[in-house]
This record gives sequence, structure tokens and C-alpha cells, in this order.
Amino acid sequence: MAFPTETVYGLGANVEDRVAVSRVFEVKGRPPTHPLIVHIGGAQHLGDWVQDVPATARVLAERFWPGPLTLVLRRGRRVPMEATGGLETVAVRVPDHPVALALLSVFGGGVAAPSANRFGSVSPTAANHVRAELGDAVDVVLDGGACEVGVESTIVDATGDTPSILRPGGVTREDLETALGRPLAVHSASSVRVPGQHPSHYAPQARVVLVEPEKVAAEAELARQLGHQVGVLVPSFLTGTAVKAHAVVAVPRSMAAYARGLYGFLRELDQRGCDLIVASLPVEEGLGLAIANRLRRAAGPRPS
Ligand code: TXA
Ligand code: MG
Repeated sequence: MAFPTETVYGLGANVEDRVAVSRVFEVKGRPPTHPLIVHIGGAQHLGDWVQDVPATARVLAERFWPGPLTLVLRRGRRVPMEATGGLETVAVRVPDHPVALALLSVFGGGVAAPSANRFGSVSPTAANHVRAELGDAVDVVLDGGACEVGVESTIVDATGDTPSILRPGGVTREDLETALGRPLAVHSASSVRVPGQHPSHYAPQARVVLVEPEKVAAEAELARQLGHQVGVLVPSFLTGTAVKAHAVVAVPRSMAAYARGLYGFLRELDQRGCDLIVASLPVEEGLGLAIANRLRRAAGPRPS
């Protein structure tokens, strides 16, 4: 079953049902070593799924749940190895969406859910994205409208004394640092700590090329002359400049609006037949850090 969260739509299975969990891997086309996030209905249930809750994790859970934050902790016995790709840790979060929370509350257990897209492609931020991508392979899609945040949760390794960010996302680094009262390291690029985070991910069908913001228009023109159907994500400060391309999307000035729209923009450019997308990275602070992370990975080398 697919369900909405505030970040992206998830493809859910009872984490304690090994058959259901293996079906999720199958439908996504995801390697079995790539661990899933366990969704729970409230911070008060965290202790049921992990071995212990260190003080740092408790502070973060109290401050940010329900919300786009995932905590990696030592795996409790209720979580089968199949869900964690064989790891001794487990990723847990409480989503901030009324439909997800109602589902979790009625169900009462833990729901293992990756983003409801084919492995490596753009995450779904609306119910019709899930249908378009997974078709009949998913029996039910709960439609909770468009996702408010639009990029996935921030993943924090909270197993040790020094928490670190494994994947930037909907909760900003700045907000985490304020809550903890200390700086946080970010291991998001090619960290070995996060299995399955290979270079190409969050990728549309079109190839993605990243250039400096002031070079976007020239790069798009060059690609057009080379015969590409070019799609452009036009940086907000260039809005108003004529950019010649097959399809043009003006990037919202607000980072929250950009994050909310990002995956939809990439899907739209695919749908309009673009084979190449020219974009630039936003400033990597606040939600800009997560947006830049997704764009880099979308532009990463593809498996041939
Ligand atoms: O916002 C989200 O987090 C969404 C919604 C549906 O909740 N879910 C999501 O799941 O993005 P998925 O499967 O697409 O990404 C989960 C990420 C993967 O990069 C995985 O490697 C990492 O979480 N992860 C899961 N368990 C982990 C663990 N024990 N240690 C380190 N990383 C882990
Ligand atoms: Mg995903």
C-alpha cells in the first residue's frame, strides 16, 4: 500500500511481516541490502523498535517528531534483518501527515516504507506520481494530496555520542544544530555509512547537467544547438531573462517552495520530452542543502 507523508509518498509494509517487506523490495526493484525506514505513530513507541534511546536521540525526537527527521539507532529485536538490509541499526521516523498518522495509529505497529518510486528514480510527491510509476504493482494508493515538504526526511545517525547527518532533508542542519547546541557533520555525498546511496539516484529520464547559475542560459543554448530537447530549471535571479529551450521551469525563490516543487519539476520536464536538463545548485544552507544533494545525485553517473 502506498500512503502520503509530508515528505514524499511511501510504499508501506508491516515491518514484522517478512513476506510483505520482501514484496516492497520487489516492487521497487531495490537491492535487498538497501535498508528501509520504519514509520511509527509517535515518539512514545520508539523504545519498542530500538535497543536503547540515547539522550541525543530523545532530544531530537521530542523536538522534531512528527516531522521530516529519521533517526538511525541500534536495531531492536522486533525489527527483522530483512528490513534493515542486514544492518544492526534501524532508521525510524514519525511522519507529519494526518493520513499517515491515522494509518499508523489504527495499525499500531511499525510500517517499513521507502519512497514509492522505482529504485533510483524521482520520488513521488503526489498520488498520481505513484500510479504512473508503479502501476498495478501497488494495490492501494491513499491520496493525501501534494506533499508539503517535497524532499525526503533528514537522516541522522544518533547511535553514538556524536550525531551526524547521513542524508540532508526536510529538517535543516541549522535547526538540528540549534536543538542540540552544537555543530553537526554532514556525510551525504558518498558515505559508506548509508548503504545503497550510490551516485545516481533521484534521477529523471533526462540527463541532468549542473552548471554555475550564470552559465545556465548559455549551456542550454549550446545543448539546443547540438540537437537536444533541453529542459531548464532557471535560477530565480535569472527569471525575466529569455532562456531559449524546449521547456523552461522558473525555480521558486523560496527554498521551501523549491523543495516542494523539485521532483514535480523533474517529472514535468521528462513528460515534456526533454532529454537533457540544465540546472544550477542553490546556496547550500537551510533546505538548499537537501535540494543541492538531490540535484547532484540526479546528475550523477548512471549505470550503463
Ligand atoms: O522522507 C522519507 O524518509 C521517505 C518517506 C516515505 O518517509 N522515505 C524514504 O525512504 O526516503 P527511502 O527508502 O527512499 O530512503 C531511506 C534511506 C536510504 O538512503 C537508506 O540507505 C537509509 O534511509 N537508511 C535506512 N536504514 C538505515 C540505517 N540503518 N543506517 C543508515 N541508513 C539507513
Ligand atoms: Mg528513495
